[in-house]
Amino acid sequence: MWGGIYSTLARSVVCVHLEPFIASVIDSIAMRRRVFLAGLAGLSAVGTVAILGKDRRLASSPVSVSTRRSFAIANQTSLRLRAATKGILYGAAIQSQTLSSDPKFARRVVEECSILVPEWELKWKALRPSPNRFNFSPGDKLAAFAKTHKLLMRGHTLVWHHAMPAWLPIVLNRQNAEQLLVDHVQTVVKHYAGKIHSWDVVNEAINPKDGRADGLRQSLWLEMLGPDYIDLAFHAAAKADPQALLVYNDYSVDYDTTEGETRRTAILKLLEKMKAKGTPIQALGIQAHLYRDDPRLNPKKLQNFLKNVADLGLKVMITELDVTDRTFPKDIKTRDRIVAAAYEDYLDVVLAEPAVIALLTWGLSDRYTWLSTDAARTDGSSARPLPLDAQMNRKLAWNAIARSLDRATQRPMVT
Ligand code: XIL
Repeated sequence: MWGGIYSTLARSVVCVHLEPFIASVIDSIAMRRRVFLAGLAGLSAVGTVAILGKDRRLASSPVSVSTRRSFAIANQTSLRLRAATKGILYGAAIQSQTLSSDPKFARRVVEECSILVPEWELKWKALRPSPNRFNFSPGDKLAAFAKTHKLLMRGHTLVWHHAMPAWLPIVLNRQNAEQLLVDHVQTVVKHYAGKIHSWDVVNEAINPKDGRADGLRQSLWLEMLGPDYIDLAFHAAAKADPQALLVYNDYSVDYDTTEGETRRTAILKLLEKMKAKGTPIQALGIQAHLYRDDPRLNPKKLQNFLKNVADLGLKVMITELDVTDRTFPKDIKTRDRIVAAAYEDYLDVVLAEPAVIALLTWGLSDRYTWLSTDAARTDGSSARPLPLDAQMNRKLAWNAIARSLDRATQRPMVT
C-alpha cells in the first residue's frame, strides 16, 4: 500500500493538486524552493503521508449506485444546445495539438461545445520559453479554431504558482516582480483582446494550510509582492481588455469537509475584500475536480456558498469539471454509473444557482484527460472521467450532464 502511495506522490510532484492530501504534499514540496529547506520538505511529505494513511479516503470501500437509478435522456441534443436553451454555456478544456492531430475529436468538440479553454497553451510555462519571448502560436491556433467554428474562448491563466518557466524564479526579485507581472498580463491579454469571453486572472491563490490568517497561498508572487499581487493582476487585465469577464479561479470548495469549509470561507473573504477595494472582478471560477468516492455533497452548504458569491454581484463559472475514477471499481458499467452519479448530483446543486453561467469540463473525451497520468488507476485500466469515451461515444457521464442541464433553471439567453 505504501509503495503505491509513494509512487503516486512521486508522479504527482510535477503536477498540480488532485486530492487535498496529495495537494498538501505537493504544496509542501513546491513551497520549499530554497535548497536548505529541501530536507525538511521530504520529512514533512513523509509525515503527511503517514498521518493520512489512517484517513478512510485511502482505504474506503467501493461505492455503488443503485441499479434502479436511471440516467435516461429524452433525446440526443448536444450539450451545447441543451445548455444554450437555459442560457448556460457548455464547453471543455482543449489542447491545440489534439485538434489538428485528431479530426474526429475536433468534430466532437464543435458538436458539443460552445466555449473552449486552452488546457495548457496560455500558462506561463507554455507562453514564456525565455524572459523576452512570448510563444503565442499554439494559443493562436485555438483562437483561430474557435473563430472558425463560432465558439467562445476562455483564457487560462495569467497568475498561478504552478507551471512557471524555469527561468522565472531565477530572474524574479522584489524590484522587478511588479513590472514582470504587469507586463505579462498586459501583453497576453492585449494579444487576445476581443477574442476572450473570460480570463482566469488568478488561479489557486488560496491555501489555508499555509497558515496565513488571510488563507493566501505562500507563493512566489506573494513573497515578492505581498497580497496585493492579486489586485494588481486584475487591474492590469481590465486595462488590457475591458470586455473580458475577469475571474478568480480555485479548487476544493465542493464538499462538506473541514478543508472545503475552510477554503470556502477564505475564498469568500478574498472576494469580499476585492469587491470592497473596487478590484475589477466579475466572476468566481470553481474548478470542480470531483474526486470523492463518498463525496459528502451537502447541497445546502454548497448552495449557500454560491448564493454568498452571487450576493457580491459576481457570476460563477464551473471551469474544470471532471470526476476522477481512480478508486472506483474496474468494471466499466459500474464505474461509469458512479462517475455519472457524481456529475448529476453535483450539477443539480450548482445549476440551481442562477449566477452559474457556464460549465466547462476539463477535457471532453477520455482519450485526452490529465487524469490518465495525474490520477492513473492502479489496475492498469484507463481513466474514464469525462463525458465522451476514448472512441468519442457519449457515456453515462454525458447523459448525467444532459439531465442536469435539462433541469436547470432558465437564465437570460446567451447572446
Ligand atoms: C493541468 C493540465 O490538465 C495538465 O495537462 C497540465 O500538465 C497541468 O495542468 N487546475 C488547473 C489546471 O487550474 O490548469 C490544471 O491543468 C488542472 C488543475
